[in-house]
Amino acid sequence: MCRVSNLKGRDFLTVNDFTAAELMAILTFAQELKSSQKAGQAAALLAGKTLGMIFEKASTRTRVSFEVGMYQLGGYALYLNAADMQLGRGEEIKDTARVLSRYLDGIMIRTYAQRDVEELAAYADIPVINGLTDLLHPCQAMADLLTILEHKGKLQGVKVAYLGDGNNMAHSLLLACSKLGIDMAVASPAGYQPAADIVAAAQKNAQASGASVTLTTEPAAAVKAADVLYTDVWTSMGQEAEQSTRVKAFQPFQLNQRLLEQAKAEAIVMHCLPAHRGEEISEEVLEGPQSVVFAQAENRLHVQKAILAKLLA
Ligand code: CP
Ligand code: NVA
Repeated sequence: MCRVSNLKGRDFLTVNDFTAAELMAILTFAQELKSSQKAGQAAALLAGKTLGMIFEKASTRTRVSFEVGMYQLGGYALYLNAADMQLGRGEEIKDTARVLSRYLDGIMIRTYAQRDVEELAAYADIPVINGLTDLLHPCQAMADLLTILEHKGKLQGVKVAYLGDGNNMAHSLLLACSKLGIDMAVASPAGYQPAADIVAAAQKNAQASGASVTLTTEPAAAVKAADVLYTDVWTSMGQEAEQSTRVKAFQPFQLNQRLLEQAKAEAIVMHCLPAHRGEEISEEVLEGPQSVVFAQAENRLHVQKAILAKLLA
């Protein structure tokens, strides 16, 4: 098994901190780890290593896949609910970072502000992994790239249509796709489009990779000739007070059979989950033959093991 370790000691705060070659190396390593795990030949690459997992928001996939991933790599993961830590009583991030660096080999954090993750990383002398912020969800985007690669056999030239909120998921996908030569069209209602600085960064990536980045308010325009249709919740964690306004604004952006029929016949349907059936995606499409959402969820495990092994081993 090839162990590229030139990412050792790095943080994983955004896919944009990595070159296309580094992201591809992570994906290739994830494929190797996935095959060896399925063949019952898992290597204990992180024997004796510990990962602290700080959560300020709810999680099913991220918590379980990181915890199981560390176990499969021979290491150990600690679940740290931020509300139960001194962090929840006002202890400073910079102090938490330096204390945890004395005990752990890595930190995964899910929180609200990207700048809090950046501060944690700046003060920690161990790798910090972004497990979702209001701005970004880079580990999910890596699992999504792996899933697209498995189902389409390539990344360069694939077209992804993202429907709905210009949120953390849209942002990380924009950065990841544009790095790897995937064309991406985002259809969102006016006022809910991705952040301008993220779009600018994606456009810069796209110039180098040959990809295209398109923003539209027309779902039909985005899905035309798409290989991948992707959606995410209309109300992300922390936005609950806006739910009723959002449900109204996003109604025309539901990923349903009518929209799916306007994409390529062999298009796949993706969703980072959790899903809200009848809101951003119809039951029929989520459960339909083109949906790969559970294979996508599984890939969180494999791709994060690759990230962990490269950063911590
Ligand atoms: N997709 C994702 O990050 O799921 P969780 O919120 O369950 O971790
Ligand atoms: N955009 C969603 C993703 C959940 C995995 C949220 O932030 O709640």
